[in-house]
Amino acid sequence: MSRIQSPKGTYDILPLNLIENKWQSTQAWQAIEEILHKCSSQWGFQNLRLPLFESTDLFHKSTGDSSDIVQKEMYTFKDKGNRSLTLRPEGTPGTLRALIDAQAFAHNQIQKLYYLGPMFRYERPQQGRYRQFHQFGAEMLGPRVACFDADVICLGWQILQALGLNQCILKINTLANEISRKLYKQKLKEFLEDYRLQLSEDSQRRLELNPLRILDSKEASDQELLKKAPTIEHFIDNESKEFFAKVLTLLQGAAIPYHLEPKLVRGLDYYCDTVFEFQLPVHGSHATIGGGGRYGQLLASMGGPALEGVGFAFGMERLLQGALTYGNLALANPTCDVLLISLGATCFERCFTLTQNLRKDGLYAELWPFDDPKKLKNGLSYADKIRSRFVAILGEDELITGKIQLRCMDSRKQSLVLIDQLKTFIKN
Ligand code: HAM
Repeated sequence: MSRIQSPKGTYDILPLNLIENKWQSTQAWQAIEEILHKCSSQWGFQNLRLPLFESTDLFHKSTGDSSDIVQKEMYTFKDKGNRSLTLRPEGTPGTLRALIDAQAFAHNQIQKLYYLGPMFRYERPQQGRYRQFHQFGAEMLGPRVACFDADVICLGWQILQALGLNQCILKINTLANEISRKLYKQKLKEFLEDYRLQLSEDSQRRLELNPLRILDSKEASDQELLKKAPTIEHFIDNESKEFFAKVLTLLQGAAIPYHLEPKLVRGLDYYCDTVFEFQLPVHGSHATIGGGGRYGQLLASMGGPALEGVGFAFGMERLLQGALTYGNLALANPTCDVLLISLGATCFERCFTLTQNLRKDGLYAELWPFDDPKKLKNGLSYADKIRSRFVAILGEDELITGKIQLRCMDSRKQSLVLIDQLKTFIKN
């Protein structure tokens, strides 16, 4: 029978000893998740866990019809009740939907939430790009204040520092308010119209849908044309300018270095004002490991109160690969405390009970599942495989005297100890 393959763009996370790439190990995921939970709670963010699928409309109305995600990347299907559902491509819309459903703002006008989990986008799989990938995201909702923008950026920055990724850079820009942005979009479109046929196919499509997105085209010919294009700085209204200046001042106060990037626009429709990306310099270019920004109107447009939001998300695969290659993420490889081996059927039950008791006492104990004395050698090599510190061997004679052979796997020294004192010996 032919072997069933995993779906394209997916991968497995398995224990370290079963996997070649460290970043795909359970140990690596547990280590990074611990840091993410710790940093988030230091910043006062609370964890939420949401459905992996939502009503398709949710993403049309938030992520936006002109985004690549909604245009061509969603996993959308009809369920048996003929409802259109979509596997979540990002976490922001679901977070806001859940907060509105829970009437969270009636309780507190400031909400700070973070999530960690799989997202789904139908993209061409390549290095760092998957169809099922994971995001860590943080969202801060409340009044329109610049300190929220600076605060979420500080959280992202602290996570990078905690992973030893101090070569990461922060790129930042403002998209201003809707009126300024519309005016700028218009001017940019007028400018690019003259070069329509020289633009890449994707950019020609974007010229109609959302000309701003052409700014982050990766095509060299598009970038060449854009050198002469108008930039947003000249169209920003005063309030947005002051707001952005405040964000930058706060970042300076927190000693967070940033690079102003007037062409940074990001690919989701809901952003206004501050937008930013965390990038890692790799092989002469920059890989975006996370990004985010302010969404001024999104909450209200979804039926929530007139409050604003700001947040970001890291791609966990990129963060983890970066942390293992360039950072200092250490992986714990648990060692077993003791493997119990019985030499004979009568001692096996005693060994089983003893194993359970040692576990109750907080030790990591394993049981060799055979009682045939001829298999002792195999038992010892199993102890090496599971990296056991000790092996305790119980034979018929020892059982009568209430003693057990304890062998230290490092020194290979063996001594006879009282079964009752086994725990104390191992612990010490
Ligand atoms: P995004 O830029 O679409 O923003 O995604 C954030 C990060 O997810 C990216 O920087 C990248 O690291 C990772 N990512 C995206 N697509 C893939 C993929 N196919 N494979 C692997 N990694 C991927 C958002 O999703 C917004 N919700 C962020 C946000 C939160 N803005 C405000 N709040």
